[in-house]
Amino acid sequence: MVKRDDLTGLALGGNKSRLMEFILGEAVAQGCDVIIAGGGGEQSNHAVQCVAAANKVGLDALIVLQRRPAARSNGNALLHEVLGGKTVWIDSDPDMQDRTSASASMHAEAERLRAAGRRPYILESSLHALSVVAYVGATLELYGQVADTLATPTRMYVTSEGAVLGGFLLGSRLLGLPWEVIGLDWRPTQSGTEGRLHKAISAAASALGLSNPLAEDDIVIHPSGGPAYGVGSTQSWKALSAAARLEGLILDPVYTAKGFAGMFEDLQERPPEPGERVVFVHTGGLGAVFAYEAELRRNVIKPASR
Ligand SMILES: Cc1ncc(COP(=O)(O)O)c(C=O)c1O
Repeated sequence: MVKRDDLTGLALGGNKSRLMEFILGEAVAQGCDVIIAGGGGEQSNHAVQCVAAANKVGLDALIVLQRRPAARSNGNALLHEVLGGKTVWIDSDPDMQDRTSASASMHAEAERLRAAGRRPYILESSLHALSVVAYVGATLELYGQVADTLATPTRMYVTSEGAVLGGFLLGSRLLGLPWEVIGLDWRPTQSGTEGRLHKAISAAASALGLSNPLAEDDIVIHPSGGPAYGVGSTQSWKALSAAARLEGLILDPVYTAKGFAGMFEDLQERPPEPGERVVFVHTGGLGAVFAYEAELRRNVIKPASR
């Protein structure tokens, strides 16, 4: 089964809507009037969701984005402009690894805004304690949706190495739920990922008045993110095509297609026992589909044309 977090409601939906509910809740409670966020490229889902959420609660949004050599003006870039997001451009980091320049730019912008009498809230990264808390809430929601059916899953697959995975892991452990939670990489595996996530889970547990019941070794991330961030693999194009043509389900090329491919791979390596059930969490990101027309024509539409 599929948990449709691509239908969360803001803009074209996606995981970041849940995060923004909690983050902007804190920003509003602190009396802030502008959120500064971002860090990704021009196709950032995070940016689109931040601006959409800020619009909804009446805050301004200033988004720091990386200028890339082969930027695509369609897809999320277009949605971002439609939503009216204000952008500060910085130099590019194709692997999405360097947070330092984005963070420095966010703080510089915050200084400038404070000097002009504004009250900025800085969200340096979506890997934030409140983002993890948001996905503890999603765990409760999902369990409520499946608890009374015979279909309670035994495995949950989610395209995340961050807050989404952390929240499902923490929520499932706190509630003693009977499923295995498997994260799926959306970029080549990077060192220190589990450690950073474990720290965010501890911060989330502490925000809930609890201690972290998970060890770093409890974090399982299946490597499915090749060949590079935002670049599809043979498997991810096949996964995108299979989801569309067998289930009528649209995946995005950057995140969920890679995740879906990683789930297939794991299911082949560890076939489910009879009676086992699997849930795939669709984290959204559908705006990006429209920025990948050429690749979709080459890798999905043409090979399968009849
Ligand atoms: C559609 C989509 N899925 C998954 C992810 C990955 O989430 P995480 O930050 O939890 O690794 C993102 C992150 O931007 C996303 O936009």
